[in-house]
Amino acid sequence: LTRIFGSPREAAEWASERVRAGESVGLVPTMGALHEGHLQLVRESVRENDATCVSVFVNPLQFDQGKDFASYPRNLERDAELVESVACDVLFTGALTDFFPELDGDASRWDRIESIDPGPRARGLEGEHRSGHFEGVATIVRRLFELIRPTRAYFGEKDFQQTLVVTDLAESMGAPVIRVIPTFREASGLAFSSRNARLSEQQRELATSLSRGLFSARDAWRGGERRADQLVACIRAELESPGLDVEYVELRDPDRWEAGALSGEVDAARALIAVDVGAARLIDNLRLDDGADELRR
Ligand code: PAF
Repeated sequence: LTRIFGSPREAAEWASERVRAGESVGLVPTMGALHEGHLQLVRESVRENDATCVSVFVNPLQFDQGKDFASYPRNLERDAELVESVACDVLFTGALTDFFPELDGDASRWDRIESIDPGPRARGLEGEHRSGHFEGVATIVRRLFELIRPTRAYFGEKDFQQTLVVTDLAESMGAPVIRVIPTFREASGLAFSSRNARLSEQQRELATSLSRGLFSARDAWRGGERRADQLVACIRAELESPGLDVEYVELRDPDRWEAGALSGEVDAARALIAVDVGAARLIDNLRLDDGADELRR
């Protein structure tokens, strides 16, 4: 049975008991509205650790648009059922003031929260298009790491730039080990995302253009195409539909984020995209020079 804690303090006590007992603890940070993609992370944590906890907290610090925060899907009861189905030990949640006692119970005093510098890999793409987003992510993730002191923490590759930011954060803190789990896709190719819940049936169909674009760029790569602009054009060609509003399509060096957008001939590449589909802002990415994630298509 999964234990449910309504405050991070209870979860912190539980985790410190586990660690005192010599057990490893896995943490899966989430904003709830759990789906199969999250469950993959939880399964991996259950497999790799003696004890696993999932946090569910829709973190207002990382939303640059109040509307997106207000309409973010929430369903704690269902989340609890789902994590129980994969043998998770603990699910915990709490209010902003529980995670940040320095607010003294006043959720409006955000100025009292020390914002964490998310580092150089927060620059560009999501960091540029969502002002303050990675500061908010780094601030809550650091707090979660301080509370739970996990052995390992699990993040999905769909949020690729986030995995870079939390890896740098964990390195600066000396722990935990960050595990990045490949993107889980529906049979249509659509990457699982809590924001998919906002899509109508027609928009969901349209949203499959994101992965189609990425996989068509990878097919082009396999056919020998190495010109960055041509690879980007392959992706954009799939995104040229009314109803899709492209924010960015960019190729980056898979290992050197600071190199910025790639141009000319490339010898390795990850393609990253952000597209508005109706009220949902969707992101996806794919490494072009590697066939590994094809298996999970
Ligand atoms: O990826 C998410 O759901 C969030 O950014 C995270 C890591 C839970 C921090 O709020």
